[in-house]
Amino acid sequence: MNKRIARTSLALVVGAFLATGVGGTVVKGPLAAGPAVAEEKKKKHPGKRLYRRMTCIACHGRDGKRAIQDYPNLAGQNKKYLINQTMDIISGKRKGGMNAQNKPRAEAMRGSLVDPQGKVRVSKADIEQIADWLAGLEPAKPKPAADLKPEDVKAGAKLYKKKRCRTCHGKEGKKPLKGYPYIAGQKASYIFNQMVDVRDKKRANGKIKTMYTFVKKLKDEEIRQIAAYLSTIDRTKK
Ligand code: HEC
Ligand code: HEC
Repeated sequence: MNKRIARTSLALVVGAFLATGVGGTVVKGPLAAGPAVAEEKKKKHPGKRLYRRMTCIACHGRDGKRAIQDYPNLAGQNKKYLINQTMDIISGKRKGGMNAQNKPRAEAMRGSLVDPQGKVRVSKADIEQIADWLAGLEPAKPKPAADLKPEDVKAGAKLYKKKRCRTCHGKEGKKPLKGYPYIAGQKASYIFNQMVDVRDKKRANGKIKTMYTFVKKLKDEEIRQIAAYLSTIDRTKK
């Protein structure tokens, strides 16, 4: 209880600091209160606490933006999509291809949320709260891989147009159809893995089948180029 009070007062102090702006100049009017209040709400969101308690943070990092290339960014992703994928990974409907240890890539996530007797540790209501919090966060800044080549980015941009990805994912992967995932600024290795899984029909849960015809003829090299391109797009900019 005391801890909670302490945390709340700290948050209030931080909030007040944000409202005063840099260098202590007082920002007047509704603009000063708006962002600070919104920040305050995000901090107190029950989904944030659940995200930590359910150990999502261990793999997906603070605010769903961990730098590991094989792990997806979750911050700012579509809420419904987040709920559906989390449920499908838990139920085993989405397993993914093999990782370096020759285990299905989503198996570790499932293992940490389902005990050996098959009891699921996280409720649907908790997942909805977590997804609501994640969806409201600012998306990650792009973190292109260290060995990214500009010519791949260029080729990938061309392929993205030619293969009509924008029909469903929107211009630059920033404006998907309702309930579809944002793919702009996602990590290249993660995108590559997913597209290979989709092409090879290893990912078959949810609505992914609508994408099959668009990727079935893509070569690994082309997928790598598309992934390189998408990984450079900054979703925090319009
Ligand atoms: C042991 C590590 C681990 C833990 C713990 C974990 N995840 Fe994951 N998660 C992963 C990995 C790895 C993937 C990517 C799987 C793949 O490549 O197909 C993933 C994928 C996802 C996806 C799919 C994202 C997309 O763009 O399709 C969602 C949503 C997700 N995790 C949410 C959660 C939530 C919510 C929690 C906590 C309740 C959680 N994860 C806990 C490792 C983890
Ligand atoms: C006809 C619609 C459609 C087209 C065209 C399409 N996709 Fe998709 N894509 C989807 C849907 C729907 C999903 C999510 C499936 C789900 O909700 O289960 C998806 C998922 C993805 C994902 C996985 C996102 C994640 O976070 O795991 C990637 C990457 C992706 N698409 C890239 C592409 C690229 C690149 C192209 C062009 C070659 C493309 N898609 C064309 C509908 C489409």
